[in-house]
Parts: sequence; structure tokens; C-alpha cells
Amino acid sequence: MRKKVTKAIFPVAGMGTRFLPATKSVPKEIMTLVDRPLVQYAIDEARAAGIKEFIFVTSRGKGALEDYFDHAPQLEQELRKKGKDELLDILKSTNMDSGEIAYIRQHRALGLGHAVWCARRLIHNEPFAVMLPDDVIAAEKPCLQQMVEAYEETGGNMVAAMEVPAEKASSYGVLDVEEDMGSMVKVRGMVEKPPADEAPSNLAVIGRYILSPDVFRHLNKIKSGAGGEIQLTDAIAREITEGNGVYGYRFRGQRFDCGSKSGFLQATVAFGLSRDDLKDDLEGYLHEIMSARKAAE
Ligand code: UTP
Repeated sequence: MRKKVTKAIFPVAGMGTRFLPATKSVPKEIMTLVDRPLVQYAIDEARAAGIKEFIFVTSRGKGALEDYFDHAPQLEQELRKKGKDELLDILKSTNMDSGEIAYIRQHRALGLGHAVWCARRLIHNEPFAVMLPDDVIAAEKPCLQQMVEAYEETGGNMVAAMEVPAEKASSYGVLDVEEDMGSMVKVRGMVEKPPADEAPSNLAVIGRYILSPDVFRHLNKIKSGAGGEIQLTDAIAREITEGNGVYGYRFRGQRFDCGSKSGFLQATVAFGLSRDDLKDDLEGYLHEIMSARKAAE
């Protein structure tokens, strides 16, 4: 029997410089899509996939993130008193049980691989997930759940993969594909941010992973790679060298890069349009401004 994936690491120690000045005081993961912070979308997706322990790798200035997961008894009492049961339910659905969540500090932003490595003592000899909350994925079945189901068949290591235009491949970790099985590919190699003409494919890795604990052994030895950072991609690539399976999973869903301003704005519009309480207003407004722009051309 394969061990179940019950732990997820959320590396959130990056500086979020693309959102300065906001990220001077607001952690990127607390920024909201409509009315929920990015991190809440990630937690909900993780729960749907069967995750029971949530490990956050944080850094200086991320206090608001820890506060967000605290219970708010006063606020709950106030809402109860006023009979605002719907809001109370929303609030309660975000509560984390004691001991369900852990925080580890990454003292210096040395890269995603290093951030994951910081959580090594909380993962024992078991597979674990890694989720980057700034990749938000709208999907009928949550992305990590799709991956866990596929992983139950394959074991090994699995990364979420997505086709990107060739000219964008150099912004991602890119897969060198050994065998294409449709929704899944077997990976022969992985390279982080390859120069545009050297990308082995246009299949890019995005922020969902299911990894074997052996990856920590590789991270122990890895020196900095692309961009001077300790890259998670390099540690996963070593699994291939050791003959362990690495699979790319073509998830069904739409991914928004909420670590970029444009992706964040697109996600805001898409999530707004998917909400019954907002879609009519928002749609009307979008029509109006698009027609006004066309008329002005
Ligand atoms: P990004 O590349 O988006 O970096 O990190 P960033 O610092 O968050 O944002 P920019 O580029 O300055 O705007 C991808 C993910 O890896 C985490 C980030 O928090 C984000 O979730 N990360 C990155 C760490 O936890 N530690 C690091 O040293 C680097």
C-alpha cells in the first residue's frame, strides 16, 4: 500500500517584490481575490485532496498570515449576536484546528528549494505535497486532488504541468519528456528557467508538487542554481538520475499566476464573474468599458 499524502508545505517566504509597495506590509498570500486571501484558496484545495497537516515556511513580515489563521472568538460572538449566521459560517470555515498548522522560518530567501528544505524535520518518511499559493487554479475537481488520485497509481514524484507558449518557457521549470501518456508524461529531465532556445519542451511546471521524502536528501547537497537560488527543480531532477519516477500531470483547470500583476487582475475578473452575487454587475461594467474603448478607437 502506498503511503497517503497528508502533509503539505506552503513556501511563502518570498519577498513578493512584484507587488511593491503593497508587499511592504501585506504578505502577497494575504492579498484577496474578491473576498478571500490567496492562501485560503490553497488551503481549501489542499483539504479537498486529503491534506491534514499544513506547514507554512514563512519569513520576517508575514505576521498577518499567521493572524489570519487564528480563531476570532470576539468577531464570531458579535456575528452570532446579530444573527449573521451566513457570515459566521464563512468565518468558521476558515478556522484551523489546534496543531493542524505549523510555521517554520526561512531566515534568508535562498530559493524555493531551500524553503522546502526548511520544513524537512516536519516530514518523516512519507510523501508530501508542496503548494505555491500564488498559483491559483480554478477547476471543477481541485488540482491537487486530481494529482493525488493520479499519484496513487504512479507513486514516485509528480509535478503539475501546463503547456505554455514557447517564448514564455524560460520563465518556468521545463520538462524533458520521455513518454507522453496524455494526461500524464514520464519525465526524463527538468531544467529551471532555460534560455529560450534551449527549452526541452513547452511543458512548464507550476506550483503543485507531490514529492518523495528523498528530495530532502538531494536538497541537503544542492548548491544554488538558476538565478543564484537553491532550486526545487534541481532536487527533483536528481530523483530521475537515481532512477526514481518523475511524472508531469496535465491538470484540468485554469491556472492564474497571481504572483504577477496581470495574472492577479485576470483572476480577480474570472473569480468575480464566477460568483452569483457579483457576475451581473461585473459583466455589465466590463461590457460598458469595452464598448467605450471601442467607440473611442
Ligand atoms: P517567487 O518566484 O514568486 O518569488 O516565489 P517571490 O519573492 O514570492 O515574488 P517576487 O518574484 O519577488 O515578486 C515562488 C514561491 O516560492 C516562495 C515564494 O514565497 C512563492 O510562494 N519562496 C521563494 C520562498 O518561500 N522562499 C524563497 O527563498 C523564494
